[in-house]
Amino acid sequence: MEVKPLTGGLGAEIVGADIRREDQFDAIKSAFVEYSVIALRGQSVSPQEHLTFARRFGPINVNRFFKPVDGHPEIATVLKEKDQKEAVGEGWHTDHSYDQEPAMGSILHALEVPPHGGDTLFVSMAAAYEALSPTMRGFLDDLWAVHSSRHVFGASIVDTEAAKSGRLGNAEAATQDTLHPVVITHPLSGRRGLFVNPVFTTEIKGLSADESAAVLGMIYDHCKQPEFQCRLRWQVGDIAIWDNRATWHKAINDYHGFRRLMHRVTVEGVALTR
Ligand code: SIN
Repeated sequence: MEVKPLTGGLGAEIVGADIRREDQFDAIKSAFVEYSVIALRGQSVSPQEHLTFARRFGPINVNRFFKPVDGHPEIATVLKEKDQKEAVGEGWHTDHSYDQEPAMGSILHALEVPPHGGDTLFVSMAAAYEALSPTMRGFLDDLWAVHSSRHVFGASIVDTEAAKSGRLGNAEAATQDTLHPVVITHPLSGRRGLFVNPVFTTEIKGLSADESAAVLGMIYDHCKQPEFQCRLRWQVGDIAIWDNRATWHKAINDYHGFRRLMHRVTVEGVALTR
């Protein structure tokens, strides 16, 4: 098994791994903690084997809003049909940040990919935090932010293509609002990193609406710099694991006219602390 870093900021590709092999799990998990995003090539595994691998990280966190895979309620379908315009996860986000104990990470298995495009971009929230000035880090260290699912998965989605096509549903379950520190200490690595994201974070507690928007806007512009990013080009059979406590991600919607089908399993996390 060979671990090959994708960029200086985050991400690694592991060659020669088989997620079905229990004896390789510790090495895969160590790489996950170190690089935050792991790509395992050529894993043409069954939904059951996908779930077995995910359970080695921890219990499964079932997504409330994505359409489940037939016969596998713990696996979410991430699908864009060739005649659809919107992709799942197009905005920069951290999965499940609206939960009190945000999911540890997500494990995506590529089943059908377009001939070009459909990549996923990731940002290292620790690298972004470390690149801020000590004065800005000190200011952000004491802040808390509100995260919510309501405006993303609630009643407003009912008229969207995703809801009409059945890709997203259960809008009445979008009732989560929670507070997390703006800067967290990663539960596994101990590294400090930013924990706010453009899709689910709604405001910084204790600031006026204008101040909150300005501070979040500054953080978001800073995080989007290419120095903190890596890009995953998918091939059928790839499995990627990303750490929600250390990254943002974004699905690039540049493959109109082609189908892209992924299975996503999300693993339970813990409450986050400063
Ligand atoms: C997601 O946001 O979980 C989906 C990412 C992707 O499809 O690339």
